Amino acid sequence: MLPVRPSAEVRSLLALRRSAAKQFISEPGPSPAALDELLQIAARVPDHRKLAPWRFVVFEGEARSRFGAALAGILSARSAPQADIDNAAGLLLRAPVVVCVISSPVDDGRTPVWEQELSAGAVCYNLLLAANASGWAGTWLSEWPAFDAEAGKLLDLTATERVAGFIYLGTANVSAPERPRADMAEKITRWA
Ligand SMILES: Cc1cc2nc3c(=O)[nH]c(=O)nc-3n(C[C@H](O)[C@H](O)[C@H](O)COP(=O)(O)O)c2cc1C
Repeated sequence: MLPVRPSAEVRSLLALRRSAAKQFISEPGPSPAALDELLQIAARVPDHRKLAPWRFVVFEGEARSRFGAALAGILSARSAPQADIDNAAGLLLRAPVVVCVISSPVDDGRTPVWEQELSAGAVCYNLLLAANASGWAGTWLSEWPAFDAEAGKLLDLTATERVAGFIYLGTANVSAPERPRADMAEKITRWA
């Protein structure tokens, strides 16, 4: 298979892609079978030494509110403001399907963790692209559960694993306004 497949359609998708606003991702979402296909595509990323240094935790249906209840319990035990507790309970209910992408570096004694984490980031982005190309809206969020040790326990994070992102997937009926993009002239230099 040639490593090049010219496609005006893919080019246009990449040139115009954007995330959905997190408040406007509604039902329906991809079925479990459709999601498995998206994840198969998402995992097709550059990955130094073929370590597959990532894993996925899928939240569908009731699992979203159960995870939310556990997050709310964490905040409640810390006597957090009630508004934060309520917010935590509903976090994953903002989309029909949420995929937590976990960076899971492999200690092979020679592949830098940084490279493995970058591969996990590529998985997140590839999942968004696969979703968009399949007609689903998505957005990549971290928010506090990505950085909280107790929330990490709910995901069975090991000492070296980190949440790369929660990818919210569903249907967007509201168009998202374009956001400012980087001034590429400021970003690109040519080494001389
Ligand atoms: C690693 C990562 C974490 C993010 N976490 C959040 C977040 O917690 N909350 C938020 O509002 N946006 C977050 N964002 C930004 C959203 O994904 C944002 O909507 C997106 O960058 C919009 O740009 P786009 O339309 O080009 O995708 C995050 C982005 C990245 C790359």
